[in-house]
Amino acid sequence: MRILSGIQPSGTLHIGNYFGMMRPSIELQARGECFYFIADYHSMTSLTDPDKRRANTLNVALDFLACGLDPQKSVFYRQSDLPGVCELTWIIGTLTPMGLLERAHSYKDKTAKGISPNFGLFAYPVLMAADILLYDANLVPVGRDQKQHVEMTRDIAIKFNQTYGDTFVIPEPEIRAEVATVPGLDGQKMSKSYGNTVDIFGDEKATRKKIMSMTMDSRTPAEPKPDADKNLAIQMLKLVAPADVSADYENRLRAGGLGYGDLKKALFEHYWNYFAPYRAKRAELAANLDYVESVLRDGAQRAQAVGASVLQRARKASGLV
Ligand code: ADP
Ligand code: TRP
Repeated sequence: MRILSGIQPSGTLHIGNYFGMMRPSIELQARGECFYFIADYHSMTSLTDPDKRRANTLNVALDFLACGLDPQKSVFYRQSDLPGVCELTWIIGTLTPMGLLERAHSYKDKTAKGISPNFGLFAYPVLMAADILLYDANLVPVGRDQKQHVEMTRDIAIKFNQTYGDTFVIPEPEIRAEVATVPGLDGQKMSKSYGNTVDIFGDEKATRKKIMSMTMDSRTPAEPKPDADKNLAIQMLKLVAPADVSADYENRLRAGGLGYGDLKKALFEHYWNYFAPYRAKRAELAANLDYVESVLRDGAQRAQAVGASVLQRARKASGLV
């Protein structure tokens, strides 16, 4: 079974990215052959600063390796090191109905926010489909917001197979129900674009401040809170603390007597400890950038071996060769 996923270097990675996509991807290393990549072509739809793209790309590589991506088990590469994906985007784009792309939530959300769309933003799901189809991926671990994109990939692959004969593997999304949408500090989905993130490797003081200033309601500490499970700090604590610890805080909040300040302090401590070993690993990697570069170079070579043969299959099926 081949497992594949990608993450954009469009900003600093946060715990929504970690619990929604990175941790499931890392755990899946035990279940199949994994291909994970840094989607730098995709980041061009929202970021136009070349230095930032370079810096973010390196940071995503460091973050992912620090959190447990194992280059012995996974093929880890930079999307643009394999430009064949752009050719495949064109090939499958000619079979992609406009209507399908017009219905994409992410596209509709962005245009609704007033972003004036360019061709790249509109074609984003076709490039993502090419990412997946180029490597015969069976399973795509992502957060819930990406589900529609994987479904579009399936539609495109099925259409291609019907038109030109059996060529592509039809992939399945893998979405973990318990972390499908990690909430941000304001209760909306945690996202780089909403300014509501807790970064995986955030600065200690700044992150403590962010967590301590999370808005809660105005009930007194003594009041029982029957809706304790909906409390944002409890929801986040469930991600970073052992189950019995978060259950204990939830019960104390429900019963009354636990103040929000104490709850937020506990949340910060557990968050900080959860990522402590990864922080140490990250510092080691950051002192050895040649190694990180060599992982990506090696990943690109291994990905190329698979991608080139699938691309040739698609070229043959469609009569380009
Ligand atoms: P962002 O919304 O911050 O820009 P991306 O779109 O780059 O995040 O997402 C990268 C990966 O992380 C995707 O698989 C996405 O589904 C997942 N992800 C992002 N935010 C969350 C979240 N709040 N909860 C769960 N998964 C998330
Ligand atoms: N669109 C994904 C995101 O924003 C990133 C991505 C690009 C991706 N290509 C992919 C994810 C292929 C899974 C498979 O998060």
